[in-house]
Amino acid sequence: MGKCKLCGRGEAKIRLAYARLNLCRKCFTEKFFPNRVRRTVESYKMFPADASVAVAVSGGKDSAALLHSLREAFPAVQLVAVHLNLGIPEYSEAAERSVEALCRSLNVELKVYRLKDEEGFTIGDFKATKYGGKLCSVCGVVKRRRLGKIAAELKVDALVTGHNLDDTVESLMATFTGGDFQQLVRLKPVLPAQPPFPRKVKPFYRTPEREALLYAEILGLPFSRRKCPYLPGSRSLRGKRLLDLWEAEEPGFKYRMLAAFEKLIPLLEQAVPQPEYTYCRVCGLPSSQPVCADCRRIEALKGRKAA
Ligand code: AMP
Ligand code: FES
Ligand code: ZN
Repeated sequence: MGKCKLCGRGEAKIRLAYARLNLCRKCFTEKFFPNRVRRTVESYKMFPADASVAVAVSGGKDSAALLHSLREAFPAVQLVAVHLNLGIPEYSEAAERSVEALCRSLNVELKVYRLKDEEGFTIGDFKATKYGGKLCSVCGVVKRRRLGKIAAELKVDALVTGHNLDDTVESLMATFTGGDFQQLVRLKPVLPAQPPFPRKVKPFYRTPEREALLYAEILGLPFSRRKCPYLPGSRSLRGKRLLDLWEAEEPGFKYRMLAAFEKLIPLLEQAVPQPEYTYCRVCGLPSSQPVCADCRRIEALKGRKAA
């Protein structure tokens, strides 16, 4: 690969085909990667340089890379890590251990919320309900609500998640082909606050998944490589594999998808208004329906337990 394109001295080890750039490990981890995170946060006005933010950390590579690079890019931002233990056998224990090791090594405050201890159920318990065939989507609903609530209690300026370029482009493809244009708009990098929930932002919106892994590996950040046992065969993994094939044939394809999406957002926002928000009559939190998605799932669970 020759010399690093940035410093001209180091041995290039990392090829970024979409940018025709070969970088040494040092320039990649110390300059290129955190600089892109900084530019993403600044250009979408995600939060100011002196904000306090809650970072949702799952224990995987993305959130490890996210927490580290945010600290590098925004030394004055007050970070608090939030982890949900979903009670998934082995997977959740390994995830919690990695998050603890990560936060200890970065000296970041950590809040852990254990679903089983706090609410008496785990994600696996939904197998016995009508939502059992779609555990990943139940899990998404459960995570969204609790992360929002914890962030609201912490009174932070923003809730930060580690959704990366590949996550977004895969969701774009799936949502677009499913024809759900209301949902498509919600893939934007910044979702406004919905009191009491703070705004939600994605600093890895322009960061490819492969690079988050490289960053975490090169820096030796603690993260768990375990895959969620409910994930195999899921739509998102298949979609990402297909997008990787496309990207290999046409470097830059994922970024072009993102650019097209950004042109589409204002048009969609005009043509497809978002649903009116009211409040869930069970939990009292914002919802587009009389009973929110979370409460409907919890009620299905209670029904099964009583039966
Ligand atoms: P996923 O939905 O698993 O692709 O995760 C997307 C993002 O959601 C991650 O990068 C984290 O920011 C957040 N997240 C996922 N799982 C958890 C968890 N168990 N605890 C806290 N945050 C999480
Ligand atoms: Fe939620 Fe696997 S982590 S279903
Ligand atoms: Zn509710």
